[in-house]
Amino acid sequence: MAGLSLHDPDANVIADEPNRRKAIRLTARLGTIIAAYHRVRTGEWPLQPIKGKSISWNFLYMLFGEEPEARRVKQFDTCLILHADHELNASAFSARVTSSTESGLYSSIMAAIGTLKGPLHGGANERVMRMLQEIGSMDHIEPFLKEALAEKRKVMGFGHRVYKEGDPRAKILREMSRQITAEIGQPQLYEMSVRIDDVMQREKGLLPNVDFYSATVYHAMGIPTDLFTPVFAMSRVAGWCAHVLEQYAKNRIYRPRGKYVGPTGLKYVPIEQRAS
Ligand SMILES: CC(C)(COP(=O)(O)OP(=O)(O)OC[C@H]1O[C@@H](n2cnc3c(N)ncnc32)[C@H](O)[C@@H]1OP(=O)(O)O)[C@@H](O)C(=O)NCCC(=O)NCCS
Repeated sequence: MAGLSLHDPDANVIADEPNRRKAIRLTARLGTIIAAYHRVRTGEWPLQPIKGKSISWNFLYMLFGEEPEARRVKQFDTCLILHADHELNASAFSARVTSSTESGLYSSIMAAIGTLKGPLHGGANERVMRMLQEIGSMDHIEPFLKEALAEKRKVMGFGHRVYKEGDPRAKILREMSRQITAEIGQPQLYEMSVRIDDVMQREKGLLPNVDFYSATVYHAMGIPTDLFTPVFAMSRVAGWCAHVLEQYAKNRIYRPRGKYVGPTGLKYVPIEQRAS
């Protein structure tokens, strides 16, 4: 993303028309970069996207090196749509804060990517898959979760800062996980997920969020686990760009105030008189 800005003479221009052009290109390019990165690291040549095909079609094609089935493209497209925007989530907020300083679109998206990466936000989907692999089988679920909760560890893919009654995106992804894990002959991944879901509700009253079932969906599609969060970014970039454009349209710098709650009335002690 940082590199792309070097090739754009309008990188720091904050005007409607160049920003719209940049937003469309960034949305198209992020998937291309992720797929190319994966091809290069596995010793393959990156593939060029095919003109006229959708972002979903092209991503699967460029990642796996063959034309994807229509059914897969539709499933992946649904995932991209579900992740594309979500009000003032932490990464969209980051993008807005950065753009509010009149920093350019690329910098704003980079700020958003850094925020998405954290495990409490978009980084959770990768950790869900690693957790499923660590648990390994049905009979390990209960002891694993009880220990995690007793130690106050966060179980990835559960809970939400806003949705306390359940994340509507998770319902769609749950059904997709059921279908797609059956299609590839690994229904146990879905069955384990459902069991984890049940135990988390029973033990903690927590419901799955968007990252829980998307993990098995992406895994079943053959997407490498360490690309789950980048795939989240390639979808969310559309939302981030929209937020940034909206911010520029009626901008005022974000500047929250901090409220001091520490001790007051302290005396200044010269440094040489202070205890080390
Ligand atoms: C998303 C998240 C950051 C929201 O945080 P939050 O709104 O501050 O959480 P809540 O106020 O609902 O937490 C209520 C209680 O449940 C616990 N809790 C929340 N999510 C939990 C989780 N995933 N696993 C275990 N415990 C969790 C909290 O620690 C708190 O426990 P306490 O009452 O004993 O202190 C949090 O649920 C989380 O870290 N989830 C895991 C990461 C994840 O999946 N992120 C993707 C979000 S889309």
